[in-house]
Amino acid sequence: MTGDDLREKFLLFFEQKGHRRVESSSLVPRDDPTLLLTNAGMVQFKPYFTGEAVPPSPRLASCQKCFRTTDIGSVGNLKHLTFFEMLGNFSIGDYFKKEAIGWAWEFVLEWLKLPKENLWITIFLDDDESFQHWRDLGVEAGRIVRFGEKDNFWGPAGETGPCGPCSEIHYDFGKDVGCGRPECGPDCNCSRFMEIWNLVFTEYYQDAQGKRTPLPNKNIDTGMGLERAAALVQGTGSPYDTDLFAPIMQRVSQLTGRKYGEDEKTDRAMRIVAEHGRAVTFLAADGVVPSNEGRGYVLRRILRRAAVFGRTLEIDRPFLGEVAEQVIAGMNHVYPELATGRERVLKVIGAEEARFGETLVTGMSLLARTMELAKGSATRTLSGEEVFRLYDTYGFPSELTVELAAENGLSVDLEGFETEMERQRERARAAHKFGLGERGAAADYVSQALPPTEFVGYDGTRCKGSAISLASDGKFVEYVGEGQQVDIVLDKTPFYAEMGGQVADAGEIIGRQGRIAVGDAVAVGSGLVVHRGEVVSGTVRRGEEVTAVVDESRRLDIARNHTATHLLHAALRQVLGEEARQAGSQVAPDRFRFDFTQEAPVLEEELSRIQQLVNEYIRGNHPL
Ligand code: SER
Repeated sequence: MTGDDLREKFLLFFEQKGHRRVESSSLVPRDDPTLLLTNAGMVQFKPYFTGEAVPPSPRLASCQKCFRTTDIGSVGNLKHLTFFEMLGNFSIGDYFKKEAIGWAWEFVLEWLKLPKENLWITIFLDDDESFQHWRDLGVEAGRIVRFGEKDNFWGPAGETGPCGPCSEIHYDFGKDVGCGRPECGPDCNCSRFMEIWNLVFTEYYQDAQGKRTPLPNKNIDTGMGLERAAALVQGTGSPYDTDLFAPIMQRVSQLTGRKYGEDEKTDRAMRIVAEHGRAVTFLAADGVVPSNEGRGYVLRRILRRAAVFGRTLEIDRPFLGEVAEQVIAGMNHVYPELATGRERVLKVIGAEEARFGETLVTGMSLLARTMELAKGSATRTLSGEEVFRLYDTYGFPSELTVELAAENGLSVDLEGFETEMERQRERARAAHKFGLGERGAAADYVSQALPPTEFVGYDGTRCKGSAISLASDGKFVEYVGEGQQVDIVLDKTPFYAEMGGQVADAGEIIGRQGRIAVGDAVAVGSGLVVHRGEVVSGTVRRGEEVTAVVDESRRLDIARNHTATHLLHAALRQVLGEEARQAGSQVAPDRFRFDFTQEAPVLEEELSRIQQLVNEYIRGNHPL
């Protein structure tokens, strides 16, 4: 039975039991701030369970794309996956325990033909009702074991939501497999048992405080991992040898020139590359783009982990795009978004792999050196600064550094790393703040209660005004002389202060006996413009009449660059679509930067088209 057959049979079986087949929802949960990524089949049905929405049918069945971040570090062993497909049947206030248990048993025995002797059942501590249902189906009492909340209570999927006690079907590979301890059972983490199917009796809603209240109805939410089920029916014992993974593994084998199954270390790296390659393909197809936080960080983290393990297989060129091609070709008949999003997926993966590729080799050798030193130290620990440097300069996700260090019997000072991260956030905050604090001490303008400066810069670039305040070194003064740094406030000014990412005007303030070169103008408090500069000749007194003159050609350069941001914005939207939205900009006389949001990196062809358009707009010489 192929993976495709299994998926289809499951949905067919439940259609025959009166269920409506529902398509998988996106890995990015819709309108669900409690959840990073879709991690169970029930996620798209949450509003039905809570009574906020009415289901199209009280009985639903689906094969859902799921992603779980909890086990990323374990991926590489034979069992764990980040991305997987979950088969599930759901009852919204319709049938309950008896049917859910009866149908699961029927499907497992009669459709999957799993031998009854190998199956175990788990139930929640006091769930005598489920116990009786399993007994009625002929399961021996000794094969039904009771566990507490940790094992047999499921949910919520995010911080809050529907949840309930559950009953699971486990497969037993036999006494000779695994830890061999007498107390080994379905709750053991060794390789003897494998959970196949989880039947959740969704009766409660759990709030942010952990308080549970009954839902309007008693519901059913079940989940069976497709890859695990395939491993059992195909007799491979591991998802990687099933037909769901074999083509991807073969691709990895081709790319690396390594055979799977010859060496445990190589095998592990190959599984990581295949699994993460598949997972990033699905994430990118659902619109996730690499970043340093949230789902984007998950993508970045696993892509970089795959790249590092790819290195250990001695692939020295970008390769994940080729793994993705295989995933798309092999799975787009089930998930058409892979085919429609192909270009974007390859672009996202290619760009991120290239970005990391630039620092990967240097980062790896820095890590190797750091680890050598740590091995000789008393604590055998990598410091927070080192982990931060690997992260900040070389793009190594801290979790990856932790993992690579652990492989060498070293630990990592994560608290120190967090401290470095916080320092960096501080620095970023400081750099974003416009203000006087950055360049020399600021005088206390609040205490002066000066009137707001009148801005006359739209009409011209020069005006007469009076010097209502002078400050030097953070102190208010009556006059300033040649060579002194000065902050000067006028009652009116043609100087545009730095605002909204556009740099301030520069120019001169000329008094009767002195001249100030103005390098910057800053808005302070409610509408006060402080000109910052240096007295280049003579002296200037508080209260005297001065002439403020903006450097006009510089002002025009800034204005032209400002206009150009609008032209670029228009061209971006024309080429990339309406979603390309401005996120910020920095405009200076000699350059500008335009930040925009867009799901994927811009392609080379798109870039030249954008350039061409902007140049056309400029040559059009339109009236402003
Ligand atoms: N929600 C449960 C799980 O994810 C059953 O589908 O295991």
